[in-house]
Amino acid sequence: MKVTVVGAGAVGASCAEYIAIKNFASEVVLLDIKEGYAEGKAMDLMQTASLNGFDTKITGITNDYSKTANSDVCIITSGIPRKPGMTREELIGINAGIVKNVSSSLIAHSPNTIMIVVSNPMDTMAYLVHKSTSLPKHKIIGMGGALDSARFKYRLAEALEGPISDVDGMVIGGHSDTGMIPLTRLATRNGVPVSQFLSEDRLNTVKEDTKVGGATLTKLLGTSAWYAPGAAVSSMVQAIACDQKKMFPCSVMLQGEYGLNDICLGVPVILGKNGIEKIVNIELNQAEKDNMISSAEAVKSVNDLLEL
Ligand code: LAC
Repeated sequence: MKVTVVGAGAVGASCAEYIAIKNFASEVVLLDIKEGYAEGKAMDLMQTASLNGFDTKITGITNDYSKTANSDVCIITSGIPRKPGMTREELIGINAGIVKNVSSSLIAHSPNTIMIVVSNPMDTMAYLVHKSTSLPKHKIIGMGGALDSARFKYRLAEALEGPISDVDGMVIGGHSDTGMIPLTRLATRNGVPVSQFLSEDRLNTVKEDTKVGGATLTKLLGTSAWYAPGAAVSSMVQAIACDQKKMFPCSVMLQGEYGLNDICLGVPVILGKNGIEKIVNIELNQAEKDNMISSAEAVKSVNDLLEL
């Protein structure tokens, strides 16, 4: 399995690191436009191989897409990250041009690749890749829900005062401060609904803290987060590489599912060797359906800013 990560910034390097550490890929190519930067990160990471016990070969490349040829999975993290006080949507002007160029350069050398889009505003960037390339829809996957769900589980465990490994839950909808839909109704602690342990008020706080998970970190760090985004991407790539048929909420092109059309939005999917093996239709209650509609409307208004 050959994986290319475009963008050797904090998120891209963290993707490469977690993929390598999990040791399921033979090769990771890290590509950046900044001269020597990806080479430096790759060399630093390779010098952790004997310490961390992995055999994945990490190569750094400055802008030469021919070196990414025949990648099974390509991950786009390039573009500018948000600064404190910014929304993900404000990045669209710069990042749309970058994502369009990067995706077409990748596909020119890896026409059969599966593509994971991380750059923000992610749901719109995934939509842009659908509209501007000829990749089939099961091969374009926006990464947001896996990360947001990890943040949801962190907040649930905090509220439950228990270990994160006891908690299960999922966030669907848009990858934005207002568009995320943490499904508290379906979240469990070892199979028991969390509502049996937490008051409605406490669950609402969990929900709100989850939705601003990225913004909270951006405020603390001065730029957007990287460890959990990298770990979330690596779990998705592992599900593809090892054909795990694991369920993750991902931003995928909807054509009638959840009553939505011509939009990329976070819904549960099965990830396996073909990319999106299946979109999973779960029964939502009326409030959750209403949230999906407003989340979709917000993403559509950002999609409308694209020059397609
Ligand atoms: C975040 C970015 C990756 O939520 O969107 O941290």
